[in-house]
Amino acid sequence: MLKLQPVTATIGAEVFGVDLTQPIDDALSDALHAALVEHQVLFFRDQHIEPADHLALALRFGDPVAHPAYPTVPGYPVVNVLENNEAKPPKIDTWHTDMTFMERPPLGSILRAITIPGSGGDTLFASLGAAYQSLSDRMQRYLEGLEAYHSFAHGFRQSLAEPGGLERLGDAVRDNPPRRHPVIRTHPISGAKQLFVNRLFTTHLIGVGERESAAVLAYLYDHLEVPEHTCRLRWRPGTLAFWDNRSTMHRPVNDFWPAVRIMQRITIAGDRPI
Ligand code: SIN
Repeated sequence: MLKLQPVTATIGAEVFGVDLTQPIDDALSDALHAALVEHQVLFFRDQHIEPADHLALALRFGDPVAHPAYPTVPGYPVVNVLENNEAKPPKIDTWHTDMTFMERPPLGSILRAITIPGSGGDTLFASLGAAYQSLSDRMQRYLEGLEAYHSFAHGFRQSLAEPGGLERLGDAVRDNPPRRHPVIRTHPISGAKQLFVNRLFTTHLIGVGERESAAVLAYLYDHLEVPEHTCRLRWRPGTLAFWDNRSTMHRPVNDFWPAVRIMQRITIAGDRPI
């Protein structure tokens, strides 16, 4: 039977009593979805699964989306490989919500540990709902109705600037023009308001001057990232994290390099426009 142990009072829960090598029936899938909406990110331990099991879990929640910037597991075009080693230092060291450059940003992502460094390499998660709730009434009123642009080219500017970067990612830049999203979005299931901007993909607020946009976004990023809005996952072999991309952002902690860290990730398509 599924049991949940909250990681903090705000965000995160460890899931017990689930074996992801076994088929997931409707009752378990419904219970996991409810737990995901409530706790925003779920951590599963000791799940020594295969890419097919990973995919079967994702398919219970929606259609996987291919990511334009990552390699994939042979035979599994929607299972991305995130690999760092001495020759491939980590590049993403910024808080973000996945793929907010899309018109319908993803519902969630499921990340699985394949090779974990001896120390370091944790992942941090933050609650967009808790961040909204702890804004002052005045700031909540200021943000209501504002929209912001989110851009693939902005998020992947470092990769694009590398030799061959434009050749590798040019199609993705063309296919993903900047998108506007509300700064305060409503979670489609819980109805809770979420502070929906992130350092990686958000470029600017629409309808206010450049200096005001930069200053307000800097404040909001700082506010989103206060420790009380966050939790931290220490990976072990067999650990899997499933986050609700509608209510969280995350960032890896790149304190393990040059050790090897290999993860596999499936991202699940957004269920409806924001
Ligand atoms: C991600 O940003 O999706 C990956 C996080 C991680 O590798 O810890």
